[in-house]
Amino acid sequence: MYGDSILVKKGLIVTSTIIYKADIKIIEGKISEIGSNLSNSGVDEVIDANGLYVFPGIVDEHVHMREPGLEYKDDFAYGTAGAALGGVTTVLEMPNTKPPVEDSKVFKEKLSLLSHKANVDFGLYGVIHNSNADKFEELVNAGVVGFKVFLGPTTGNIPPPDDGSLYEVLLKSAKLNVPITFHAENAQLVRYFTQKVKREGRNDPAAHMDARPPICEEDAIRKLILFSKWTGGRVHIVHLAAKEGVGLIKEALSRGIKVTAETCPHYLLLNSRDYEKYGTAIKVNPPIRSEDHQKALWQGIMEGAIITLGSDHAPHAAEEKEGDVWRCAAGFTGVQTFFPLMLDQALKGRLPLTKLTELMSENPARLFGLWPRKGAISVGSDGDLVIVDPKVETVVSKDWLKAKYPITPYLGWRLKGKIRYTVLRGKVLVRDDRLVAEKYGMFVEPMRSKEKL
Ligand code: NCD
Ligand code: ZN
Repeated sequence: MYGDSILVKKGLIVTSTIIYKADIKIIEGKISEIGSNLSNSGVDEVIDANGLYVFPGIVDEHVHMREPGLEYKDDFAYGTAGAALGGVTTVLEMPNTKPPVEDSKVFKEKLSLLSHKANVDFGLYGVIHNSNADKFEELVNAGVVGFKVFLGPTTGNIPPPDDGSLYEVLLKSAKLNVPITFHAENAQLVRYFTQKVKREGRNDPAAHMDARPPICEEDAIRKLILFSKWTGGRVHIVHLAAKEGVGLIKEALSRGIKVTAETCPHYLLLNSRDYEKYGTAIKVNPPIRSEDHQKALWQGIMEGAIITLGSDHAPHAAEEKEGDVWRCAAGFTGVQTFFPLMLDQALKGRLPLTKLTELMSENPARLFGLWPRKGAISVGSDGDLVIVDPKVETVVSKDWLKAKYPITPYLGWRLKGKIRYTVLRGKVLVRDDRLVAEKYGMFVEPMRSKEKL
């Protein structure tokens, strides 16, 4: 069976444009009716959502769940349990696992492994590196949700394709309407600045910021815009951290070049002053930068230069996050705090609630060909909901976090709003911080014919 049947009564439904009060009926996993005073015939459970906000399930387009091959850091069952507890009903899993998802054989093995462990629905990326551009079509046919290209060195150290291969895969991206996500940092510049900062004898946590200055991002993004212009390829720049990137994307959009961009909650909520407080816990690639970058990213999401958010959930083992800045791994767990952090910002008036739906559910679903099955509360869509109480707080604690190593700068943060229910295809997965249904997730494949963003 595709899903369960429930009725959610009198909630405030938050779409990307409006908030309105209505009942939602889900029959066998799909939304069958939206209206007032709907009958409870055919449903197994009625949820009273009076006074609660009802969002479409969050689609986290950027997670590294570490399975297979890196399970010592974390695994898919933990990661997707954390996702459910954080209101995320669909995750798009990055390919820098071991072995990297570089051909259809690895893809199929990863898919069959994860299928038995998924607590939420999931899509899988393939990777394009220095020697597998010819695997693009077979990975598309196997069902990848999109691709990842690591232009800059990061976890997994997957080398980038050369310029010719990059041009070629972007042509294919245009032809087959497949998005390619980019870790956009110039690798040579990262190496140069890292050596320079090391030679200066720096080893404070903020040295990471100076080892990867904005020029690294700016150069990579400029190149990607150029390549997108000439190929029509679907360039999606992920974890945008530099204000120069926002400027370049705005300008590209004004010239009709359809590049898209994502940023992450940590770039919106933290800045360079936080290295002192959190140390290497906030080491991440690209680095958390000064306040002017943070401000530009906020402006970018409000003005539409940045159209999605992703968590860049990137857990590591405790001993990898210890030690000096050069030894410490980049990234931290984030899928579970992803929505609660941004909900808190919205409830404090920093951005409209509708913007959360737009950035964290609808736009990622559209971009990756999953909309309106995912990312929408509309008749025929999957019955994926996150139901929150705006009057109750969430406290980020080790106990609440589902991760092998709950290392995050947000420990102890008190957030406005609390998830009461996470619902996946009509099945209640989470009830008041308890995961009540496990392994209900399934693989989702994109529809390529759907509109582009
Ligand atoms: C990511 C990881 O650890 O997989 N780390 C990070 O700092 N963002 C890789 C990446 O996306 O760069
Ligand atoms: Zn990256």
